[in-house]
Amino acid sequence: MSGSLFLLKARGAFYTSRTAADYMVRWAVRGPADAVLEPCFGEGAFLEPLAEVLEPDRVYGAEIDEVAFTRVLRRELLTADRAHLGDFLETEPGRSPFPRAFSAVVGNPPYVRLRRLPKPAAARALAVAEAVMGEPMSPSGSLWMPFVLQACRFLGSGGRLAFVLPYELTYVQYARPLWRYLKGHFRHLRCIRVYDRLFPDLSQDVVLLLADGFGGATDSVAYEAYEDLDALLDGQPLRTARIAVADVVAGDRPFVRALLAPELTALLSSRRLADRLTRLGRVSRFSIGYVAGDKRFFHLSAEEAEARGIPQDHLRPALTSGRELRAIGICTRSVPEGRRLYLYDPPAQRESLTPADLRYLAEGAAAGVHQRYKCRIREPWYKVPGLEQPDLLLSVFSESPIMVLNDGGFLASNSLLCGRVARGVDPSLVVASWYNSLTLLSCEIEIHSLGGGVLILIPGEANKVLVPRLQQVPAGHLSALDRLLRTRDGLEGAFALGDDAVLEGELKLTRQEVNLIREGVETLRRWRKGVQKVKRCNS
Ligand SMILES: C[S@@+](CC[C@H](N)C(=O)[O-])C[C@H]1O[C@@H](n2cnc3c(N)ncnc32)[C@H](O)[C@@H]1O
Repeated sequence: MSGSLFLLKARGAFYTSRTAADYMVRWAVRGPADAVLEPCFGEGAFLEPLAEVLEPDRVYGAEIDEVAFTRVLRRELLTADRAHLGDFLETEPGRSPFPRAFSAVVGNPPYVRLRRLPKPAAARALAVAEAVMGEPMSPSGSLWMPFVLQACRFLGSGGRLAFVLPYELTYVQYARPLWRYLKGHFRHLRCIRVYDRLFPDLSQDVVLLLADGFGGATDSVAYEAYEDLDALLDGQPLRTARIAVADVVAGDRPFVRALLAPELTALLSSRRLADRLTRLGRVSRFSIGYVAGDKRFFHLSAEEAEARGIPQDHLRPALTSGRELRAIGICTRSVPEGRRLYLYDPPAQRESLTPADLRYLAEGAAAGVHQRYKCRIREPWYKVPGLEQPDLLLSVFSESPIMVLNDGGFLASNSLLCGRVARGVDPSLVVASWYNSLTLLSCEIEIHSLGGGVLILIPGEANKVLVPRLQQVPAGHLSALDRLLRTRDGLEGAFALGDDAVLEGELKLTRQEVNLIREGVETLRRWRKGVQKVKRCNS
């Protein structure tokens, strides 16, 4: 990453498009007497439209970056006596240059993780958030949240907020206290998502938060999803929904569900279907695999181990990435001998180590393996903790996650999820219930994605995924799945096969209902991946 991009990223300086800024300013400014604050004005994306609708003495702003600050003053987008150079979180309502109360605060705050800030700045941000919300904010959060809360301190009664915020606002755990605060302090909440990315150069999904009637309260937020900015300006939403703030705080992913067709939402909440589904974690609890501490040193092929004379019983077959689950069918016993890796797991007692072990450990120490973080915090450094053979394995980075039976007796590293079935549950029943479009739909709803739209399965979310509750495995289904999953491109076919045998066969859904579910998967995948990546692929 170039030096300048690094500096921009460090202070979260990505500028809002004029169209979006225009739309928000026209919503926020209700009359010439309004006073508006832009708390982190950057290059002035919001100050330009503000200058068109308000006299200069009605517009105030702050910015921490001196270069951007100076540029804006030179362009006379703001008068010096109404501008603050410095940390917005250090400003106070009523203290120069800011009056006590504003009609509106508009902007696009920095999305910088608090842990990336200098300690004093992070502490200040957390203190501001707690002071306003009356409850602590998680240090794992981002700077945009204290900015929103600090902005509320500057609002007069009936005041408004118009902010561009990261899409994570709609689902991350650390934002839930903020939703509780917004619910108790604004009469109206509106959240707008646009499919077209507002920051094309960033793989950052955002929403527009429009909060009105400061001092009031509400139980819900009006959600609107638009194809692009033109549709927003024309007031042509693709989807609208009234979402209970309680559902957001409960972590039910209502902003994702709201993108689904109403008929599908009705089907998913019908007793007929809901009674036939269960959370994955109820039939098999998934957690991450072991952490070796140095992947290369602790994993050897059979040849490498033999060449070093390392005893067989100090080696345990291990799987270390999702790639190793591809094209092996539904069982780990099918992992080809030549592709197998072994976790080096010598005895902890030094006196039980063979000369070959001692040579290999010396090799590791010479390479500094014993100094690696996970190694130096355990005793002895070469003993990997938490080794258990799971019943099932699940790939982590995939929109069509692979699940296999671990009948090969492998261990699995933290690049995979490890499942232990509940008492009395047949693991093959879980695999049979995994491969179908309803599971894929639930993955799209429950699993969050990284920037750029990559789904990443973490235990807490994976265990919430809904799967059909099967009494028995449909005849011949497992062997048919196994045949498909032994081929490089059989994965989508395996999920389609499950639609026939499980969704139609066992759950008695109609073909039309299965198609509705499949369309739901495509809809959510499209929103998750966003637009830019597609363009790039086609260019
Ligand atoms: C995402 S940019 C948005 C700029 C402008 N609001 C826009 O929408 O184009 C965030 C801005 O916040 C500024 N900033 C970062 N931390 C700040 C702080 N603690 N106080 C004031 N401004 C800050 C950055 O320098 C950057 O210009």
